[in-house]
Amino acid sequence: MNILITGGAGYIGSVLAPHLLHAGHEVTVLDNFLFGQATLLDCCKHEGFRVVRGDCRDEALVRPLLAKADAIIPLAALVGAPMCSADAIGARTINQEAVEMLCRLASPAQRILMPVTNSGYGIADKGKVCTEESPLRPISLYGTTKVAAEQAVLARSNSLTLRLATVFGLSPRMRVDLLVNDFVHRAITDRAVVIFEGHFKRNYVHIQDVCRVFAFGLENFEKMKGRAYNVGLDDANLSKLELCAVIRKHLPKFTFLEAPVGEDPDKRDYIVSNQRLLSTGFATEWSLDRGIQELIKGFTILRNARYSNV
Ligand SMILES: NC(=O)c1ccc[n+]([C@@H]2O[C@H](COP(=O)([O-])OP(=O)(O)OC[C@H]3O[C@@H](n4cnc5c(N)ncnc54)[C@H](O)[C@@H]3O)[C@@H](O)[C@H]2O)c1
Repeated sequence: MNILITGGAGYIGSVLAPHLLHAGHEVTVLDNFLFGQATLLDCCKHEGFRVVRGDCRDEALVRPLLAKADAIIPLAALVGAPMCSADAIGARTINQEAVEMLCRLASPAQRILMPVTNSGYGIADKGKVCTEESPLRPISLYGTTKVAAEQAVLARSNSLTLRLATVFGLSPRMRVDLLVNDFVHRAITDRAVVIFEGHFKRNYVHIQDVCRVFAFGLENFEKMKGRAYNVGLDDANLSKLELCAVIRKHLPKFTFLEAPVGEDPDKRDYIVSNQRLLSTGFATEWSLDRGIQELIKGFTILRNARYSNV
């Protein structure tokens, strides 16, 4: 298949693009390389790889790229609540309007597979297990724009969306602002973490399983289309304190404390069911333990010593 990935040089895209190339697909990435990231270099050897530096909001640029695509994976976004509040216009135009434009320009036969955050479930009724039918009530601009984009995608035929848990694992465009990556990074560099609202439950999924689920969605598109799917580890609906305890199994010198004051800004406290995805035959392969072992190796390589001697 010929696949167009917008934002394909980001944390997820930099692992997904080579994954899809290895699976035999042709991949075109459109990205503005917002972070000056030097990712995707390993993809350039593939004849079926094409990269375009540009803005996903630029209709004249997107139109001809879209014309060749069998499937579109829109990843380009300002990701996370802090980044969206720092640039509210960028958030609306990139996260929402650019996706609405893709939906408008794509022919009905073209497939769209889009990731969204499931963090909007976080303010659902306490103690309830969230399914895809649970209301998404986003509170941040990030959440609002992603939910609006999802609505546009699911309003057309030949689409599916993947409601991702918090992703963890290594990528050439590394993000240490994601919860598991952040805690493992701190456990290695600081040996300690102070936690706010440590009993709040979250859910997690490894970046390799995210890539596998996109490939699975492409292969099983006819039976999966038209719906949203929660994507997370079913056995890892863990609170932040429980997550820290898992990390300490691997890094015994790690200390974590709960702060008596302070709030989790995004109020996530939820258990998510992944039964809809599991019933399609998809199974995750990357446990938290496996991902933590991977991260420990990665953070041995990645060290920010720019302003210190060690
Ligand atoms: N990482 C997660 O935990 C997670 C969870 C749920 C959903 N998602 C979604 O997955 C997608 C990718 O997230 P990520 O974690 O890889 O984030 P990321 O910030 O690493 O990737 C975003 C990419 O978009 C590019 N980009 C930004 N503005 C652009 C523009 N105007 N034109 C072209 N490219 C632009 C950036 O250069 C970057 O490569 C996003 O849509 C995000 O909402 C991520």
